[in-house]
Amino acid sequence: MAIERTLSIIKPDAVAGNHIGEIYSRFEKAGLKVVAAKMLHLDNEKAGGFYAEHKERPFYNDLVSFMTSGPVVVSVLEGENAVAHHREIMGATNPKDAAEGTIRRDFANSIDENAVHGSDSTTSAAREISYFFNDNEVCPRTR
Ligand code: TYD
Ligand code: MG
Repeated sequence: MAIERTLSIIKPDAVAGNHIGEIYSRFEKAGLKVVAAKMLHLDNEKAGGFYAEHKERPFYNDLVSFMTSGPVVVSVLEGENAVAHHREIMGATNPKDAAEGTIRRDFANSIDENAVHGSDSTTSAAREISYFFNDNEVCPRTR
């Protein structure tokens, strides 16, 4: 399997709920390695640009407002099949549909405040990683 990198965000609800450590612990126990990390408080422009693909969706304004409501932790995770593996650990978008033992099942309250973000393809991972990190803020590849 290919070694991939993916973008992970611990959203404002999970940061406010004091779940940063528990969420990182789940990634690490699953074999995903943190190769970049920063805490940010997004403004409308940064959050809106990140979710630009959803600009025409009815939930877009609420999503941007939620994502700017408090600090987030943005990370790059590396591992085998990291994009899909990370999304598996996150669980379904709607926590009501998320499998037992997933982050969203355990920490999210609703589809609109759902604890974590993960890239959905290697193409979006590349875009999302460079949206938040300069090359010198990410550990160089060792494998
Ligand atoms: P999406 O990319 O579909 O989900 P995911 O985060 O699992 O990749 O949607 C982006 C975010 O938009 C989602 O995490 C929460 C929000 N959202 C809503 O608030 N309501 C909705 O009906 C959907 C589909 C998403
Ligand atoms: Mg998505």
